[in-house]
Amino acid sequence: MITFDAVTKRYPDGTVAVDRLDLEAPTGEITVLVGPSGCGKTTSLRMINRMIDATEGRILLDGAPVQDIDPPTLRRGIGYVIQQAGLFPHRKIVDNIATVPHLLGWDKKKARARAMELLERVGLDPGLAGRYPFQLSGGQQQRVGVARALAADPPVLLMDEPFSAVDPIVRTSLQDELLRLQAELNKTIVFVTHDIDEAIKLGDRVAVLRVGGKLAQVADPKTLLSDPADDFVREFLGRDRGIRRLQFISTEGLRLRTDMTGDAAGPWRLVVDADGRPTGWVSRERPDELEPYGTFVRGRDPMRSALDAALLSPSGCAVAVDEDGKVVGVATRETLDEALAEAADG
Ligand SMILES: Nc1ncnc2c1ncn2[C@@H]1O[C@H](COP(=O)(O)OP(=O)(O)O)[C@@H](O)[C@H]1O
Ligand SMILES: [Mg+2]
Repeated sequence: MITFDAVTKRYPDGTVAVDRLDLEAPTGEITVLVGPSGCGKTTSLRMINRMIDATEGRILLDGAPVQDIDPPTLRRGIGYVIQQAGLFPHRKIVDNIATVPHLLGWDKKKARARAMELLERVGLDPGLAGRYPFQLSGGQQQRVGVARALAADPPVLLMDEPFSAVDPIVRTSLQDELLRLQAELNKTIVFVTHDIDEAIKLGDRVAVLRVGGKLAQVADPKTLLSDPADDFVREFLGRDRGIRRLQFISTEGLRLRTDMTGDAAGPWRLVVDADGRPTGWVSRERPDELEPYGTFVRGRDPMRSALDAALLSPSGCAVAVDEDGKVVGVATRETLDEALAEAADG
């Protein structure tokens, strides 16, 4: 566990970048620091591995003040990932990944084997090992950055806007990859971003900072969305807070109609195949044309998926299926409106 105990950072020019920060980053969890530019995220992160020293207060690593640990020893147990990966341009990918093992004096063969293993772990083709960073895409370089940070298997990972410089599609896949890795590795991760969607997706806990380095709120994403502490947090979460919350609301209790496959269904009728799986929607006006449908697995997928499924179809309805893809019912626009209204109230 990483503990910030009344930590303040005042730069020599008088700027208070972080102001009496109290925060815990629990072991094995992802804690996200999020907030607008200049709110002290990078400063907070760098005080953990002592790239910057706190002016007042203490940071504890499993109870031990980091001030009492010499920086090289401290950093051996802390991986660090930054935007644009920060790879050494004149070193091959395999050597970039093996940077820390080399520093630790591992023998060449072992360091190389570890690097090759990590390449695969972060979803890269081992064939890239002999290339140089400029020969890789931005997303690939970012994966190499993550592999390098993991090379010596540190218990703690610090990540400063690691995915901010890549395009949205690549960013999504890097985020998914990080969550997949974390499910296996259970690192203690402190992740910095200015992107609230990224914070909500990745964080077990999310700490919202405001300019001046003050903590506005720390909570799990669901609580943050349902109970923002003040207007600053509410505004930072944005107008679509209600829609974001749907990610955390179960479809278990969603009211479903089961009469939509029959002839008396109304303006839209759902067509199913012999196994009970959906084929498409037909409208009363054009009974010969199959229109697209969207599905969600009732009880497994969140309400957000049900809404997305409804938006995929001109019928405005979401098809609820079981784990085998068989239709169990239909969530109509009215049902989904009720769920949205509840989310907005809650
Ligand atoms: N070396 C420095 N000297 C003076 N002020 C700094 C220095 N580094 C950062 N700051 C200031 O500290 C505040 C917090 O910066 P930073 O931690 O980089 O914020 P963030 O990462 O949230 O954008 C900003 O006002 C920034 O201008
Ligand atoms: Mg920063």
